[in-house]
Amino acid sequence: MTNDDRLFLVTAATGKTGGSTIDLLLRRGHRVRAMVHREDERSRSLAEAGAEVVVSDFHDLDGVTRALQGVTGAYLCHPISPGLIEATTYFAQAATEAGVRSVVNMSQISARREAGSNAARQHWLCERLLDRTNLLTAHLRPTFFAEWLKLWWELRDGEGYLRLPFGEGRHAPIASADQAHVIAAVLLDPEPHDRAVYTLHGPVELNHHDIARVMSSTLGIPVHYEPISVEEFAPAMAERGMPAHRIQHLSNVAIDYQSGVFAGTNDNVEKIGHRAPLSVEQFVLENKPDFGVSGPYFVPFGT
Ligand SMILES: NC(=O)c1ccc[n+]([C@@H]2O[C@H](COP(=O)([O-])OP(=O)(O)OC[C@H]3O[C@@H](n4cnc5c(N)ncnc54)[C@H](OP(=O)(O)O)[C@@H]3O)[C@@H](O)[C@H]2O)c1
Repeated sequence: MTNDDRLFLVTAATGKTGGSTIDLLLRRGHRVRAMVHREDERSRSLAEAGAEVVVSDFHDLDGVTRALQGVTGAYLCHPISPGLIEATTYFAQAATEAGVRSVVNMSQISARREAGSNAARQHWLCERLLDRTNLLTAHLRPTFFAEWLKLWWELRDGEGYLRLPFGEGRHAPIASADQAHVIAAVLLDPEPHDRAVYTLHGPVELNHHDIARVMSSTLGIPVHYEPISVEEFAPAMAERGMPAHRIQHLSNVAIDYQSGVFAGTNDNVEKIGHRAPLSVEQFVLENKPDFGVSGPYFVPFGT
């Protein structure tokens, strides 16, 4: 049962924020078109949940144009991979031609002109590019997602390890499900957010020693934070098959993190998304099975 005729396009539909946004919009009875770049089990379950699935690559102008036909508002979320500026240009042009009203743009907290990360600098340029269109546009700049804690988690002999180049830097991890509440709210009522840039944080700012302590008490096992240097981190990422673009990004982001670029907290999730964001403890509890694997556990392609 739909609430109205509006159609929302969600890209990165099989990803973290895209998937959660689709779930939320569908549960609220909205019409959703999910853009995926391949058909698989995940796209089939999106269709079963009630989304209209469209297959297109961000770098296929004709495919993106088809995906945007008849769309009222769109969520644009490009992964950390080459071609962000091209993809955003295609998306902005196709959305304008299709008469789309608004775009929610996923950027990140390190997006700025002087960023050392190529991807972060490109995010900043893409924000400025979208600001020059007639689309109602809001930019989201989250700090590190809480999902990061799963991506870099290692469990050895019953003890957890976070080996990361983050020194004593701090951030308030934000779960993608919480971000979905902000994305959905802005899609549903874009006017008040036009040209806004929102940094998104979880509720509590911590360093990784604090995070390890919270994880330890929540999981009931010893958890150690082992700070490593960026010089150690880069080859570790390469060994795990991470592409050069992402290694360049994460190496520079680690320096940013140590300098406080990812720090802070605010009430944007509550104010815009009307939801209290999950703490690290709540996130770990909700995702407890994902931390219980034996042997080194690593999912290579997170941001
Ligand atoms: N993770 C973080 O901590 C964090 C923090 C701040 C901001 N962000 C921002 O969040 C955005 C994405 O986050 P993420 O990297 O964690 O990924 P994600 O949203 O979890 O997943 C990326 C999605 O994009 C899809 N995709 C990949 N290549 C595509 C292509 N060429 N055409 C169409 N779809 C494609 C993927 O599909 P498949 O799964 O089928 O490949 C997947 O659905 C980035 O812009 C990043 O800057 C992330």
